[in-house]
Amino acid sequence: MRSFAGRDILSLKDFERNEFMHVFDTARKLEPIARSRERSDLLQNKILLPAFYQPSTRTRLAHETAMLRLGGHVHGFSDAKNTRAGDFYQESIKDTFKMLEYYGDVIVMRHFQQGAPAEAAKWSSVPILNAGDGWGEHPTQVLTDLYTILKEKGRLDGLNILAVGDMRMRTMHSLMYAATQFDIEVSVVSPPELSLTEEFIKEITARGNKFQVYDSVDDCLDKADVIYMEPVVQADYTAGREEKPEEYGTTPKEYVINLKLLNEKAKSDAIVLHSLPRMDELSTDVDHSKYARYWEEAFNGVVMRMSLLALVLGAME
Ligand code: CP
Repeated sequence: MRSFAGRDILSLKDFERNEFMHVFDTARKLEPIARSRERSDLLQNKILLPAFYQPSTRTRLAHETAMLRLGGHVHGFSDAKNTRAGDFYQESIKDTFKMLEYYGDVIVMRHFQQGAPAEAAKWSSVPILNAGDGWGEHPTQVLTDLYTILKEKGRLDGLNILAVGDMRMRTMHSLMYAATQFDIEVSVVSPPELSLTEEFIKEITARGNKFQVYDSVDDCLDKADVIYMEPVVQADYTAGREEKPEEYGTTPKEYVINLKLLNEKAKSDAIVLHSLPRMDELSTDVDHSKYARYWEEAFNGVVMRMSLLALVLGAME
């Protein structure tokens, strides 16, 4: 297995099965620290630098919490408009990250352009963690999702995951890449205009992804072990900053999950994941049902980032 020390986490495209399992094993070892809300000294002299060019609640704060729980330090920016990259100068990724590498030992970056973290990684000698790049990928979120599934189901192989929502989403791309490393069948449900692109389908098919397309959650909910949701009424993930429009549509019923539907059609042990934020595609009546696991994901998100930080900083092998 390739070492994680010093490594960028940009994509799940080339993540191998044993690398997924190593990240999950490391997370399991570190989980008691987060569970007991303690502070370890594993990363006591290390600095995490968040560089966020797009809004975030969970991803940035989960990384920051993870670093603090491991005894490290955090400083960075959550809005590029307060930096020279977001003002008149529009400072380039090269110039920005050539500098940032001296201010932190690991950088977590969210950007509105697909490929921006990979570009930053060319100029930074410290590891870059991709916290979401345009419509590209969201690897640390999907590692969190898979860790949650593994904890809940005890396995990843042999599962059916129903992926419903905007299939152009970066989480969906990372999920589809990850599925190629396990015996996971993915059922895909999305409006036609938000479906997987032909180019992406070609790529994941060549990589061995087993997916099937359905018109409605009604058509495939009964075989799902995991229901993996993203909004259909969606923000533009390539926008640097966006205000909520005064008018926006509601989600058609083909892409909505509510408690009644789950009780009528889902397996009794099916679980619902959502990376959040949500719009109206996931009814709040699911929140406190036996199906909901999206709150647990918030906790697992911290644990997963502890694992990644410990590994890329070489504090754990
Ligand atoms: N899951 C996720 O990416 O949420 P944030 O946009 O709040 O980081």
